[in-house]
Amino acid sequence: MPSQAVFESKDKAVYTTSTGAPVSKHYAAQRIGHFGPLLLQDFHHLDVLAHFGRERIPERVVHAKGAGAHGYFEVTHDITDLTCAALFDGIGKKALVTVRFSTVVGEAGSSDSSREPRGMSIKIKTEEGNLDWVFNHTPVFFIRDPAKFPAFVHSQKRDPQTHLKDADMFWDFLSQNPESIHQVMIMCTDHGTPAGYHHSNAYSAHAFKFVNSQGQFVYVKIHLINDNGCKTLTAAEAARQDPDFGIKDLFEDIQAGKYPSYTVSIQTMTSEEAENFRYNILDATKIWPHAEYPLRPVGKIVLNKNPENYFAEVEQAAFSPSHLVSGIEPSADPLLQGRIFAYPDAQRYRLGVNYGQLAVNAPVAPIANFQRDGFMAVNNQGCRPAYQSSILPLQYKAKPYEHVEHEVFLGAALADLSEVTELDFEQPRALWSRVLNDQDRAHLISNVAGHLVSAKSAEIKARMLSVFAAVDQGLADRIADAIGVPRVQPLKVKPAEDAVRFRSSVTA
Ligand code: HEM
Repeated sequence: MPSQAVFESKDKAVYTTSTGAPVSKHYAAQRIGHFGPLLLQDFHHLDVLAHFGRERIPERVVHAKGAGAHGYFEVTHDITDLTCAALFDGIGKKALVTVRFSTVVGEAGSSDSSREPRGMSIKIKTEEGNLDWVFNHTPVFFIRDPAKFPAFVHSQKRDPQTHLKDADMFWDFLSQNPESIHQVMIMCTDHGTPAGYHHSNAYSAHAFKFVNSQGQFVYVKIHLINDNGCKTLTAAEAARQDPDFGIKDLFEDIQAGKYPSYTVSIQTMTSEEAENFRYNILDATKIWPHAEYPLRPVGKIVLNKNPENYFAEVEQAAFSPSHLVSGIEPSADPLLQGRIFAYPDAQRYRLGVNYGQLAVNAPVAPIANFQRDGFMAVNNQGCRPAYQSSILPLQYKAKPYEHVEHEVFLGAALADLSEVTELDFEQPRALWSRVLNDQDRAHLISNVAGHLVSAKSAEIKARMLSVFAAVDQGLADRIADAIGVPRVQPLKVKPAEDAVRFRSSVTA
């Protein structure tokens, strides 16, 4: 007799092997008598154990912890003057979306309340292929050079020897790369601890190019503004949360019909405006002031469906800023250009070469090309020839525009790592002196102090304080006093005039 009760099945599902053969009576292993060894002939049992041992796939190297949901994107405003992307070509037009929210540095089992950016990735299944927006909940990023990204992440992950998070490593990197100060300051306000996953805005950070049917483009930053406002936690509130509170909150809100929704808006700049802008528009550490570049609404994203299966619909989701559609092009932002390689490459490793064929990633638009085979090819394009044949040739659909006007890049190949200048401190200074209120400032100081105090190296502490002093001497002095170390002078950097000016067209 089976040792476990068999309950009446609601969906009449019959237990089978992985090959679909019904298993009689129960799922036990075959053995000789009650005390003898197990039998090699028992495919069912071997299959169960072998599959179990292969259940884990590599977690994402960053953004490993997360939650997801499905919903739709709907066009609410006409932007066909800016882009010919088919997705936007009619008010009221809808497309299915899958969204994944995430923290950044922690492992898959880490806490939803850590102090860091929250990712919000959106896969929009348009009639002309998938458009992915792989955004964070803050409008700027820590760095602007892709070469720094792996080192930056390493400094926040575990120490190679102790396998512990390390405050010295953390502040050592940030103090040597002061362009990060804008994002560091935002992270150390209560914005660094959002109240779960779906109570924040999300931002592209990079400029993309929206191209219209005449081939004219504007630079665009995309903002998803939360229709229910942003909610944050104080450090004390964050410390009290259950590690999975964000996942739970999202799931329960959607089950209860309280659907998260976002207004999709854009800021735009012509290339002439971009050349006259004070900052390099290809620098993801900078915002575009809303007073000069106001938000223009585009559409709405509503999340109204929980996944049925987390692994299939969220863990296996593969988002990439390189998944673009005709009418939206990448800008030359080096960080974005680095990401264009990094995401599909990580996904080929994490999910396999045919990750795009998994149901959650497969476009609604039909696929026809000459890619074939590889592990787990579930859509191998039938009998269609795997080359451009005369037997069953593929057609090419021209973009409405031949090429994008204006941008011309000329120059020698050079090893380019950006330099820090006084320009890098202007926006953080405005944040400190004009945007934050007294309570925000007090929280920022206690949140920085609470972490920086754990660094053992006096040199690292002093160097980081000099970065804060370059933003505002009073800010640095308050942190120094809070952690009981001497006050320091501002970091010396090059003047603003020495910053490389953005040029979108270079003629020899
Ligand atoms: C050169 C800079 C960067 C590199 C090399 C990089 C690399 C990566 C990699 C390899 C992953 C894991 C992908 C996967 O396994 O599916 C990832 C995830 C992610 N990154 Fe980045 N990243 C960079 C900058 C950024 C920036 C600037 C943002 C936001 C503005 C961002 C937002 C995200 C998000 C939201 C995810 C999670 C995607 C998901 O939900 O599956 N990253 N990144």
